[in-house]
Amino acid sequence: MSNIVVIGGGAAGLSLSLRLAEAGAGVVVLAKGRLSEGSSYYAQGGIAAVRDADDSFQYHIRDTLIAGAGLCHKDAVEQVVTNGPDCIQWLIDHGVGFSRDDKDQGRYHLTREGGHSHRRIIHSADATGREVETSLVNQARKHPNIQILEHHLAFDIITSNKLGLPGPNHCLGLYALNQHSGKVISINTPRLVLATGGAAKVYLYTSNPDTCTGDGIALAWRAGCRVANLEFIQFHPTCLYHPQAKSFLISEALRGEGALLTLPDGGRFMPDHDERAELAPRDIVARAIDYEMKKRGLDHVLLDISYKPADFIREHFPTIYQRCLEYGFDLTQEAIPVVPAAHYTCGGIMIDPCGCTDVEGLYAIGECTFTGLHGANRLASNSLLECLVYGKTASAHILSQSPNQDSGVTLPEWDESRVSDADEQIVVAHNWDELRRAMWDYVGIVRTSKRLQRAQHRINLLKEEVREYYGNFRVSSDLLELRNLLEVAELIVRSASQRKESRGLHYTLDYPESSEDWLQDTVLTPDEEPGQPM
Ligand code: FAD
Ligand code: SIN
Repeated sequence: MSNIVVIGGGAAGLSLSLRLAEAGAGVVVLAKGRLSEGSSYYAQGGIAAVRDADDSFQYHIRDTLIAGAGLCHKDAVEQVVTNGPDCIQWLIDHGVGFSRDDKDQGRYHLTREGGHSHRRIIHSADATGREVETSLVNQARKHPNIQILEHHLAFDIITSNKLGLPGPNHCLGLYALNQHSGKVISINTPRLVLATGGAAKVYLYTSNPDTCTGDGIALAWRAGCRVANLEFIQFHPTCLYHPQAKSFLISEALRGEGALLTLPDGGRFMPDHDERAELAPRDIVARAIDYEMKKRGLDHVLLDISYKPADFIREHFPTIYQRCLEYGFDLTQEAIPVVPAAHYTCGGIMIDPCGCTDVEGLYAIGECTFTGLHGANRLASNSLLECLVYGKTASAHILSQSPNQDSGVTLPEWDESRVSDADEQIVVAHNWDELRRAMWDYVGIVRTSKRLQRAQHRINLLKEEVREYYGNFRVSSDLLELRNLLEVAELIVRSASQRKESRGLHYTLDYPESSEDWLQDTVLTPDEEPGQPM
């Protein structure tokens, strides 16, 4: 009997692993780097879920559908929203401490974010992800049914199709690089879960940590899975503008609690762009900032919450307050400089309501997936919720199947007999930079068909170089991640090129309006695509 293997130690991977382990299943969790390192740890604002008597599932569903600009799948939205309260309770039962209401300590405080008609974001001050992740990591480390392999980068799924075996394509195992020893291992498993997070590292400026290189999406694509809606990359409107801040996120909850966006002269501009002003959905706010910056030649705009009482700011936003102080900005006294940065991958691996992909035995959950929840634009704080809900439904599906049997297939050993050590690591570093800059310049908040063609051209050249490197040199983390980034960049560009309209997060000057003809997902299928997987 073999273990279920889960790639990813974020909210998606760990909530699923704990549910499986608590039901008696054996689980191996792989993470590149430390277990807690991923977007989940850095989540700030909180988790959207209906908890207030004035709120209702209908309101949450409606807000999600509005933000999604016509492309949400209503069944997926209903599944996620209605499972919300139960998943929050699961976290509370697993020791996650959420902030209490200032006036009534018996209740949890609910904050607001853009696009939400009601207060429904449960949070742990401004470091919700740290609280959730710390609790889940602690429990996973203690659980006897969970084996953790940190610093292991999974880089290819072994499928029956790849080995030329007959029958439907199914999962047999994976290859992973031990990042300490530099050795490649193979792991035999017929049940594999991808919970690898998003791909925003493909852009030069991003709120995401270094782990977000789209690995799961690239692995699934190479294994034969369809992907969808990858043109919809969400840019968070407010990241701190400072050379050392690495696009540190300034939570939308600040605007939820009244922060205003202003120009250098102190004047607001959001009311000119949308009647919901600072609380319009993210695509609108990010595009408005981009527009004002380009029109006026600004490096940034300003975010101002300093008119609120200093105690309120320090209590609700202690982490952000502290980080801003480190960069010389006092939130309680002044407006701070902000710019948009790539934040969230709305599309991804196509899955069904139980997390099943197109490959038998291969599951995917969390930000690496396309579930239909987000449509053309994710509603703030719906992401962690999606991770938890699919962690629940996918674990239930896995447990409902007959226990894992070894496939009996001997996996081919990773062949390093013909490769040597790379002589010029600088080539890999340079290519990383070139790709991320091209994506930022040509596939960003505002696109054109010409810019997309330019990006595709650069990707083609880089792919050639990386293919050669991959074939001739010993693999390294940087090379494997670059290979995945290129794969995903191409999928993003191809998806964006197909959509001949503007909708939600995809805005192109060549087709500035939305069109009824494009009320459909952009689905890419490996076998039918001209650019074959690397
Ligand atoms: P992650 O948490 O990113 O975890 C991915 C895991 O996979 C990591 O352990 C990583 O090491 C591992 N991994 C990746 N590739 C490999 C590989 N090849 N081999 C082995 N392991 C691998 N959403 C909200 O709903 N509310 C918020 O307040 C919020 N705030 C955010 C703030 C920031 C700064 C950021 C970046 C995102 C925020 N989001 C928020 C989005 C949300 O945090 C993410 O969408 C969510 O955490 C994704 O969880 P995940 O488990 O899918 O992936
Ligand atoms: C934030 O706190 O602004 C991030 C929330 C999210 O990405 O959902």
